[in-house]
Amino acid sequence: MNILIIGGTGFIGQRLVRRLHQEGQKIFLLVRPKSIEKAKRLFADLSDITFLRGDIENTDLLADVGQTGKVSDQIDCLIHLAAVYQLDISPSEAYIQNVVGTQNVLKFITRLKNLRYFHYFSTYAVNQVLSGQVKESDLIPESSHFFDEYARSKNQAEHLVRELTPKSIYTIIHRPGIVVGDSVTGERDKDDGPYYFFNFIQKIKSLGKISEKLKVLPLPVESNSLMPVIPVNTLIEWSTQIILTPVERPITCYHLVPKQEIKTKDFLQLSIDLLNSPLKIVGISVSGMFPPIFKLLRLPEQLVFYMKSRARLDRSQLEADYPELTGPDYKEYLPNLIKAFLAK
Ligand SMILES: NC(=O)c1ccc[n+]([C@@H]2O[C@H](COP(=O)([O-])OP(=O)(O)OC[C@H]3O[C@@H](n4cnc5c(N)ncnc54)[C@H](OP(=O)(O)O)[C@@H]3O)[C@@H](O)[C@H]2O)c1
Repeated sequence: MNILIIGGTGFIGQRLVRRLHQEGQKIFLLVRPKSIEKAKRLFADLSDITFLRGDIENTDLLADVGQTGKVSDQIDCLIHLAAVYQLDISPSEAYIQNVVGTQNVLKFITRLKNLRYFHYFSTYAVNQVLSGQVKESDLIPESSHFFDEYARSKNQAEHLVRELTPKSIYTIIHRPGIVVGDSVTGERDKDDGPYYFFNFIQKIKSLGKISEKLKVLPLPVESNSLMPVIPVNTLIEWSTQIILTPVERPITCYHLVPKQEIKTKDFLQLSIDLLNSPLKIVGISVSGMFPPIFKLLRLPEQLVFYMKSRARLDRSQLEADYPELTGPDYKEYLPNLIKAFLAK
């Protein structure tokens, strides 16, 4: 396939580019002009990558491709990963990058004459306020309440993708859970998701004698709170499989989350144990006091939602189309994540 990737220099994108290249796919990368040199350095060891300048904030985002008509005629698969992924993002930035950016990509699609497959990277958080069973076909209205602008903007963008992608193109929506480092090497790019928590425990430990006296850690986790954590290498393997053997339906959506549910309390307690802290988590119901406390600790206050989520992400579509996609048990890979975290 001739694959155009937008967002190929990011945490997930870098790894996806390498994996698809390894599979012998022809890769075209759309990169912001300011990141072109970085992109060339990142992939200096890969032959035959075509770099195109473009910014999804612009309506003529792919001016380079427009000028090189031959390139746009070659593309048969487009992967859109570009987004601003940050919990405390402002409403305007989230809207411009994630919603308008996606709208511009959708407009551009109509110029790719031979495009057959469009892969859009969404997130499980598009249905943020749902609890209980959440289906891959579920998408709450844009007017719903959201705890952060990232989730709101990704919800709006997924609505656009579902409504505006031409029906002649097979659209596949990848909805990853919380993406953590590599399950074997622990390698990662940024300290978000559970890494906020790892840093928080380290901060407590650094308090010395005071921390030795602390025995319990009250947290807004309930016994049935769930955390859909997926290691980045598992996500790459799954998405690669989906991209290389796509199912041809007008719209398909997959929850890319582990088969076995992970209880938030268990995941965080094992993290504490592996960080050699004696603290034991005590779940308490969420009250208004948490967001200010989180702010004081320099943790994004929006984290509260992710800790108390009770959504059970149904993966029936994924299992029907790709029954072989199973991931590792967190108890096996969490020690590797913590080891790499401590080594940094
Ligand atoms: N990481 C997670 O835990 C997670 C979980 C669920 C879903 N997702 C989704 O997966 C996708 C990738 O996430 P990630 O963690 O890899 O994000 P990331 O590391 O922040 O990478 C974002 C990518 O988007 C590019 N980009 C941003 N704005 C752009 C613009 N205006 N024009 C062109 N390119 C632009 C960035 O390019 P530069 O190099 O120029 O900055 C970078 O390549 C996102 O859609 C995100 O919502 C991520």
